[in-house]
Amino acid sequence: MEADKAYLEAIQHGRYSEQVKDLRCKYDHVRIQFEDFITAFYLRPHLERLVEEKANNNGEGLRFYDLGCGTGDGYDLLSKMAGTTKLSEFDNRLIEQEMVEQYKGIDLNVALLKEARNLFGDYDHVDFCKGNFSEGLPLEEGEQPYDLYFTSYGTLSHCNDQELERLFVDIAKHAHNGSIILCDFIGRYSYEWQDIWTHEPEEQPYIDYLINYLYTEEDRDNVEISSFPLRLMSPPEVEKVLKSAAGKAGVELKVERFFDRSLFVGRHIETGTYNGNPQPLRLMVSSLFERGLRTYFPDLKVNYRPRRTFNWQNDALQTLADSWNALVDYTMVLMEHYDSDEELLPYPPPTEVKPLEKAYRVMRQTLEGSKGLYGDIRADLIEAQLGYALRSLEMNLQDGQGLGHGLIGIVKVVK
Ligand SMILES: C[S@@+](CC[C@H](N)C(=O)[O-])C[C@H]1O[C@@H](n2cnc3c(N)ncnc32)[C@H](O)[C@@H]1O
Repeated sequence: MEADKAYLEAIQHGRYSEQVKDLRCKYDHVRIQFEDFITAFYLRPHLERLVEEKANNNGEGLRFYDLGCGTGDGYDLLSKMAGTTKLSEFDNRLIEQEMVEQYKGIDLNVALLKEARNLFGDYDHVDFCKGNFSEGLPLEEGEQPYDLYFTSYGTLSHCNDQELERLFVDIAKHAHNGSIILCDFIGRYSYEWQDIWTHEPEEQPYIDYLINYLYTEEDRDNVEISSFPLRLMSPPEVEKVLKSAAGKAGVELKVERFFDRSLFVGRHIETGTYNGNPQPLRLMVSSLFERGLRTYFPDLKVNYRPRRTFNWQNDALQTLADSWNALVDYTMVLMEHYDSDEELLPYPPPTEVKPLEKAYRVMRQTLEGSKGLYGDIRADLIEAQLGYALRSLEMNLQDGQGLGHGLIGIVKVVK
């Protein structure tokens, strides 16, 4: 299988399972501080509800099914999800180990499963098995329903529409009333692949995807890297498959929300593989979160080039780019004034954009409050706050239209 070969090459390359040591690896700061965070943020209220329902129901534990689990990252994400706790509290996990009755991860790739078992196989409630979700939902005889059917990082884009419909039908039948399906796809209108945007989605259902971002620019041209097709998705395309699956299963599959993830920091923003206007934005944003390392701010700015006739996509992405750039500019101005020991740091320019107004305020407050602190204030404090502020712009200036690297749908099974 093409995808299997490509993932094997990526894991053999080494950086795919490397933890954050280097800024260009699978677990870079953008993955952790932007992508994992954003997924967890939108999932949290649904998990809180499930936790509460379980607590009221004889204290049973939660059951998770991770489809395309890879090296078990889903277990890591779910078990590390933070609740809203007070500063003085030490443990902020939303779900403690003992609250998980079962986590089952399936994947086609045995090398990834082996790594998953190495990392998490010691837990009794964790199980990794080989399975193919393109042939329906892999289940054992009498297997109990799951509270969450989880996918991550574009995994469902491995299915064509018939496979996806069959998988949704199986999940809809197997789930209980109130189960959640986290559907993670590749977004149709990400700026990363602006060259292949189309007004006729049925003419361009797939992107011929390359995991070439793990390689240096030089290696990318010299090493032969396998590609595989991934289904590009927009909300109407997902809804069409859901509607048909719900009809066949005889249950309601209710979209609670869609959200876009990584609008300007997707893996391919820098490769230029599918966009003639590559920019080092992912690396720069990762650098903001790296302690002890200062980032070159001019490279943090988005140079958005509209594509003719794609009006709503251009408007939405330009609005985000304008706010993003205005915040970077204002932070540079604040730092210059800070250095000249001025009593009062300049106030931000007026804006109608509420998320930008808040982000300006936070950056000014950060610089004001940082005077006299220990350490490299820029590298460790100001830049990290700017990273969070850019993340909040990304989250608040989109409404899940397929404009990010990832398009995620949170779907509730209603029986
Ligand atoms: C984008 S990766 C996500 C991996 C992991 N969940 C993560 O968060 O990093 C997609 C995963 O789906 C697996 N996969 C692709 N097609 C599959 C299929 N038909 N059945 C099971 N797993 C599949 C791949 O081997 C790969 O591990």
